[in-house]
Amino acid sequence: MDEFQVMDELQTIETHAADQTRRLGRALGQLLQAGDVVFLSGALGAGKTTLSQGVAAGAGIEGPVTSPTFTLIHEYEGRIPLVHMDLYRLLRTEQVLSEPVQFQQGQPEQVQSELDGTGADAQLNAAQLPEHEATALGLDDYFESGAALLIEWPGGLEDYVEDALYIRVDFPKGREADERVLTCRAKGPRSRLLLSEWVKQWRL
Ligand SMILES: Nc1ncnc2c1ncn2[C@@H]1O[C@H](COP(=O)(O)OP(=O)(O)OP(=O)(O)O)[C@@H](O)[C@H]1O
Ligand SMILES: [Mg+2]
Repeated sequence: MDEFQVMDELQTIETHAADQTRRLGRALGQLLQAGDVVFLSGALGAGKTTLSQGVAAGAGIEGPVTSPTFTLIHEYEGRIPLVHMDLYRLLRTEQVLSEPVQFQQGQPEQVQSELDGTGADAQLNAAQLPEHEATALGLDDYFESGAALLIEWPGGLEDYVEDALYIRVDFPKGREADERVLTCRAKGPRSRLLLSEWVKQWRL
């Protein structure tokens, strides 16, 4: 279906349409088990929620899966419990309080600066929520809850887990508007297994 390459522990795949990203997500969702953690990074509008919609469908969630941009957290019950978070607003609030950044959604310079790691998105992707805030919101409790977690703009929650799948969605430079590159890396034995099983599905 797609070219894919294996570079050490990184697995990358290109998609050419939103539906293709959703299909990839569905294959991941079918493999997902209670307690799995998936972190999603990448610029605004890259396709994290689109991928998540596929994951939810694959995990047996019926009905619409919308972006938790404003609500932060959506909880679903399918074949397994699934929690979908988007901490962008929290991170942005933190950043605005400390160092205001001009966001220009969809500007080519922003996409470019995301790719070279200097843009506002890149800063937010690297941003850390203060621990007291994560705790106050009960975010750490979700890691104990047994639900599978899908987390956009994780804001340092990576530190809470020893086993997780990391997926970054990028706009490749100078390509068609609907092209994306997903770069995936697994930390820990469960996520390595999950990633290797998922990658097998990419060939089908
Ligand atoms: N190959 C592709 N994969 C994913 N989405 C695509 C692709 N091509 C076009 N799109 C479009 O790009 C947009 C991706 O939006 P989405 O909400 O998934 O991004 P996001 O990464 O979750 O952004 P945010 O950081 O704002 O939450 C959608 O409108 C989707 O239809
Ligand atoms: Mg999103």
